[in-house]
Amino acid sequence: MKVLVIGSGGREHAIVTKIAESSMVDKIYCAPGNGGIAELAECVGIKAEDVGGLLNFALSKAIDLTVVGPEVPLSMGVVDRFESRGLRIFGPCKKGAMLESSKVFSKDFMIRNNIPTAAYKVYYDPEKAKKEIDNFGYPAVIKADGLAAGKGVIIAQNKEEACTAIDEILSEGKFGEAGSRIVVEEFLSGYEASILAFVDGRIAIPMVSAQDYKRALDNDGGLNTGGMGAVSPAFHYDAKTAEIVEKEIIQRTVDALIDEGIRYKGVLYFGIMITQKGPKLLEYNARFGDPETEVVLPRLETDLVEIMNAVIDEKLDTLSIRWKEQQAVCVVMASGGYPGAYAVGFEINSIEKAAKEAGVKVFHAGTKKSEGKIVTAGGRVLVVSALDPDLEQAREKVYRAVKSIEFEKVHYRSDIGKK
Ligand code: AMP
Ligand code: GLY
Repeated sequence: MKVLVIGSGGREHAIVTKIAESSMVDKIYCAPGNGGIAELAECVGIKAEDVGGLLNFALSKAIDLTVVGPEVPLSMGVVDRFESRGLRIFGPCKKGAMLESSKVFSKDFMIRNNIPTAAYKVYYDPEKAKKEIDNFGYPAVIKADGLAAGKGVIIAQNKEEACTAIDEILSEGKFGEAGSRIVVEEFLSGYEASILAFVDGRIAIPMVSAQDYKRALDNDGGLNTGGMGAVSPAFHYDAKTAEIVEKEIIQRTVDALIDEGIRYKGVLYFGIMITQKGPKLLEYNARFGDPETEVVLPRLETDLVEIMNAVIDEKLDTLSIRWKEQQAVCVVMASGGYPGAYAVGFEINSIEKAAKEAGVKVFHAGTKKSEGKIVTAGGRVLVVSALDPDLEQAREKVYRAVKSIEFEKVHYRSDIGKK
């Protein structure tokens, strides 16, 4: 089989690593890929948003399976385009991807289908939003409707912060078209967990749980980022919570998708807040999470390509998906300054040495090859992941590997996986 993976981050490196383990696969392409993915796949210079270019490439190479990593091509309808040309592709159709690409669509979908979530209201008019904002209490949660690369959610601690956010999004166009309307919602407190599920249009099979660390600094300080690390399983996701989530959130979602005529195939990500009143759904993502994938996929025992084929063929019920009973921890090594401005082009040393220890994987997120060397090329540079039966050992392993890798101005959190 020839497989094409779309994307260029740590998530895609983890996906490519699993696909490369499959005995069914002869050749992997990745568009556009990165310096680490290039060790396992042929990287082709087509951007993830260039749907036409990707389609032409897949047709010309007679690709047997295409796997979509990021949300933007999904929201542009890459799956619909590929399917209309008879190509097999793993990911939801454009309508299904709206569960992520429009907060208004997804919140309406949740409420209409009795899926537990925070109370909310949609606003187009900044004056009306500012007038009513006190009704939500503080902190208030303000979300741009569309895709905003993880930056579209503002937790406002008081009226002033809320009004600033409302003006920036609705009046000043901070997120462009993605901010033409906002969702304001009730603040939920509790413990977060990320539950990813394989969905084949008929049933969903949840993967092992994960938890992401979103803030830049230790003890959840600093700014929100795309994610600074993750653990699997999640700390507070016990069997009782899992049962409620599967029944009231995952199953209801799948049933509702069928009822509403949306053929959802691929991965559906449920961002859960475990509150005192039970688990509630914060958001959907229409894809694998990043960095959750870098702790979840290393625990997968079943052939990922076999699962993806079963999803496309609506045969998930014929599979039993097996996971390693291990603890996984991943730490993001970022460029100093991230999520603000940062410099790139620094040489990275000792990756191979770090990856030698059993259970350790070094996934590349923002790197590239330059004159035979691997150099930094993004905010999140590497995602180092380790597996061990014991959480403390997994933590030690991952930080041993992190400390042995060097590049200028490296920044990482030192508390990932700490209880
Ligand atoms: P979202 O993209 O909707 O998941 O929001 C990103 C992050 O913002 C979540 O992972 C939470 O940490 C936080 N968040 C979103 N909605 C709420 C809410 N209603 N209450 C508290 N925190 C929230
Ligand atoms: N880790 C959250 C996300 O992938 O959006």
